[in-house]
Amino acid sequence: MEKVHLITISLLLIASFYSIVQSIDASVTKSHKCLNITDAEREKFYEWKEEKNKTYKTPEAEEKALKNFVKALRKIESFNNQMNKTYSQSYDPEFIDKDPEKFIREQAGFKIPKNVKFSTLPNDDDDGSNSGVEYDASTTELTSSTTKQKIVKSAQLKDPKTTKITTLKTTTFKTTTSRRKPSTIQNARTTPKITTTKAPKLPTSVNYTKYMQSVMEQGQCGSCYIISSVALVEYDSKVNRNINQTLSSQNVLDCINDDDPCSGGWPGVALDFVKYNGVADGSKGKYVYTGIPQSCNKTFTPLRNISNWCSYFLSGNEYELQKLVAKQPVVVGVSLTFNMMYYKKGVFYDEACTNNIDHAVVVVGYGTDGANGDYWIIRNSWGINWGVKGYGLFSRNRNNSCGIANVAFTLC
Ligand SMILES: *[C@@H]1O[C@H](CO)[C@@H](O)[C@H](O)[C@H]1NC(C)=O
Ligand SMILES: *[C@@H]1O[C@H](CO)[C@@H](O)[C@H](O)[C@H]1NC(C)=O
Ligand SMILES: *[C@@H]1O[C@H](CO)[C@@H](O)[C@H](O)[C@H]1NC(C)=O
Ligand SMILES: *[C@@H]1O[C@H](CO)[C@@H](O)[C@H](O)[C@H]1NC(C)=O
Ligand SMILES: *[C@@H]1O[C@H](CO)[C@@H](O)[C@H](O)[C@H]1NC(C)=O
Ligand SMILES: *[C@@H]1O[C@H](CO)[C@@H](O)[C@H](O)[C@H]1NC(C)=O
Ligand SMILES: *[C@@H]1O[C@H](CO)[C@@H](O)[C@H](O)[C@H]1NC(C)=O
Ligand SMILES: *[C@@H]1O[C@H](CO)[C@@H](O)[C@H](O)[C@H]1NC(C)=O
Repeated sequence: MEKVHLITISLLLIASFYSIVQSIDASVTKSHKCLNITDAEREKFYEWKEEKNKTYKTPEAEEKALKNFVKALRKIESFNNQMNKTYSQSYDPEFIDKDPEKFIREQAGFKIPKNVKFSTLPNDDDDGSNSGVEYDASTTELTSSTTKQKIVKSAQLKDPKTTKITTLKTTTFKTTTSRRKPSTIQNARTTPKITTTKAPKLPTSVNYTKYMQSVMEQGQCGSCYIISSVALVEYDSKVNRNINQTLSSQNVLDCINDDDPCSGGWPGVALDFVKYNGVADGSKGKYVYTGIPQSCNKTFTPLRNISNWCSYFLSGNEYELQKLVAKQPVVVGVSLTFNMMYYKKGVFYDEACTNNIDHAVVVVGYGTDGANGDYWIIRNSWGINWGVKGYGLFSRNRNNSCGIANVAFTLC
């Protein structure tokens, strides 16, 4: 009998962004008082402020913004002067005048409920049945099974400590391999729709960017888990139904049945919402995104729904992620760092990245850059002035950098 491995994702996440925020570049917030701002720096700030149409409520607020801007500017300029970098930084985004610690805290919207468990594939030498584990959130009882892993989830996933479960919905969690030696990947059996024993021939690059709707800006809301999930559905409309539709992340934010939907969540909850309730039109003049949760209009008109979604625990195996992305865009979690705020172009790689994922993005492709190596193309939700029109390249095949291949969500 093969061993069934249970991996609790929450282990990766408990320390989450708090530790990141503390560990990276503590100097950012120090020396607030003795920051000697030069005239040139001040000038740059006023140019930037005008370009972005920024206004500040009080002179104090403006002074604070100036200081944040100058500190970012210095980091960016010194970074761009390094010789060995694989990407460059800029102060284009609107949020450069924010306290970076506060910004990262706000944006970190990928939270994994405490009790979510994934099962990995059985050993390679068994009969190939997909042995999983049934997980029932209401009993926390684990039962071996030979079918797809089922997980009973509650509407209160956001608060793992809650024991009162009001709404139960069943969702299928498929699983995939844990980190395997390349030779054994040939036999990967539970990656969706791949049932042969031969490794699929993967394209060397894919890029779904042109099928995606406009890049969004989360604002002061940890809603990346919603925005990235909705993007999967928009892509599906475009590619599989030939409909160009913007779907309403605000609708999901308002109606997801969560006291504090801006404090982050699990993409599976957002996808479940679209599965069971549908999602409204999010285009201009309709249910547009504001990033400020409103009370839910229970009679909203859904424009689309989905039949199912899948989540995979990839154990950092970037080849498994590549197999998924070869078929369609995939929501993943990445670990946030301060340098990520300033990313402009090139292949992002940051030693400050950890394995603790706290931000959801959509992987919309992959490829290889002659100078800077293999990359994933990611669609962020930090506005179009971040990266290249809102998109970025993150290093690929570099030891699962930023934890990008830890968990994955797709429509299925
Ligand atoms: C800031 O400027 C003042 C006066 O010009 C100088 O005494 C001080 O050492 C400077 N501080 C820093 C951190 O450069
Ligand atoms: C700033 O405001 C001007 C005039 O109101 C407008 O033309 C421009 O597009 C705005 N720029 C941004 C970045 O919002
Ligand atoms: C580049 O080199 C500097 C100094 O040698 C080092 O501190 C830094 O981490 C390197 N940066 C990258 C992106 O490898
Ligand atoms: C991906 O496609 C978009 C739109 O077609 C294009 O602008 C972008 O440069 C491509 N990205 C890469 C990394 O090739
Ligand atoms: C798709 O819709 C968006 C706005 O909803 C629009 O900006 C874009 O031009 C449309 N694209 C096509 C190909 O119709
Ligand atoms: C709720 O949505 C319905 C259907 O879209 C709409 O007719 C109604 O006016 C909305 N109610 C409110 C209070 O916005
Ligand atoms: C949602 O799915 C059901 C089938 O499960 C379908 O009948 C219905 O029309 C769908 N609604 C929308 C808005 O797509
Ligand atoms: C790869 O990442 C893991 C987990 O973050 C870390 O423990 C290990 O030291 C890394 N290995 C290399 C070669 O960087």
